[in-house]
Amino acid sequence: MIFLGLAGNYSARDIFRHSFTLGSRKDYDALEAELVKRYGGKVETSSLTFSGRTAIAVALDSMVVARLLKKGDHVAINGFTCYAVVEAIKHVGLKPVYLDLEKIMENAILPNFSANALDAAASADPKLKAVIIQNTFGFPADIRAIEKVSKAHHLLMIEDLAHCAGRKYPDGREMGTVGDATCLSFGKGKAIDTILGGAVILRNPELSLPNSFDKSQLSRKQHTDGDAPRVSWYPLFGAIARGLTHLHLERFWLGLLLKLKWIERSGDTKIRYDKTITDWQAKLALRQVKLLKNSALREFYLVDNREECLKELKRHGAHLEEFWYETPIAPKRFYEKAKYKEADCPNAVFFAKHVVNLPTWYKTGRRKKQLAKAKTIVKSHELKGSAK
Ligand SMILES: Cc1ncc(COP(=O)(O)O)c(C=O)c1O
Repeated sequence: MIFLGLAGNYSARDIFRHSFTLGSRKDYDALEAELVKRYGGKVETSSLTFSGRTAIAVALDSMVVARLLKKGDHVAINGFTCYAVVEAIKHVGLKPVYLDLEKIMENAILPNFSANALDAAASADPKLKAVIIQNTFGFPADIRAIEKVSKAHHLLMIEDLAHCAGRKYPDGREMGTVGDATCLSFGKGKAIDTILGGAVILRNPELSLPNSFDKSQLSRKQHTDGDAPRVSWYPLFGAIARGLTHLHLERFWLGLLLKLKWIERSGDTKIRYDKTITDWQAKLALRQVKLLKNSALREFYLVDNREECLKELKRHGAHLEEFWYETPIAPKRFYEKAKYKEADCPNAVFFAKHVVNLPTWYKTGRRKKQLAKAKTIVKSHELKGSAK
């Protein structure tokens, strides 16, 4: 069987490593230093964070503190994204502006907004002062043109690497080395995955960490206090869930873990300015950073009838139901809160209705073959004209 979710990206060795790695302050500092070296900032103006959304909130907050943004300003984001991004913007008292995805031709839609869409939004909206670029699934945005438009309209640029750490833009620059701030998520299924965590690197020398985020006071403890997920066991829980899929018992198992609050759903991750990741997570993340490759996190296809396609995949042992995203702002349970005007983003709405993902981490043996079979199935359902 192959999976998109349930820690399907973890091998048996990864699970063992995740559950039993020990770390120290040295590992924590080493990760911070490595990210600063990679993305080009300073240790004093960078930090590991509790989550990816915390990193985005801190980056925006730093821009408010530097008076480059003021409360109530607008931030352009991809019209197809995770509610985490919206939440971070709102947390700082700013407002998200959703940019529609780029349509190349009938049925052929890219997972990012175009520079033209950004230009039009900035021309029409004097409050638009910043833009977040996410390179959805690791698929590169048109960065050169976006940079040009951002300069012309004096927009601050944040690169959100949740999907794309390690990737390069077509012009050869690494993602995360272009904007004013770089944010990473180490959440479940991300390019760097320690189940929970993130990092912010303020690249623009005018920026400094806000006082509300006191880096020296962050708690690095694992909080297994009955009200926090068992981060160290999540990959093991995922492996058990994957095993139980054979007996159709995985929902029962996950329900039990949720009830016990031993796991949480990805969308429920919090913004916290008082906590950060643990030393052992930092050690694991550092290892992953060093192994990053310029390869996509997920492949994407637009299919005619997604329900049918997923059913057929499941019959052939491919559990790909946890595709990104089922609504333009996901998860679905937060969609209403996002106050998304569908009429403004018809391409993103269409994309969310038809997209399926294939994992990119099954590289050998039986699972590689299963992935190839899954690809054949997806392709047989593909919308005419949507092939990239
Ligand atoms: C595009 C994008 N950015 C940022 C985040 C934030 O990640 P986290 O869950 O670590 O807060 C996510 C998470 O789902 C995401 O998909």
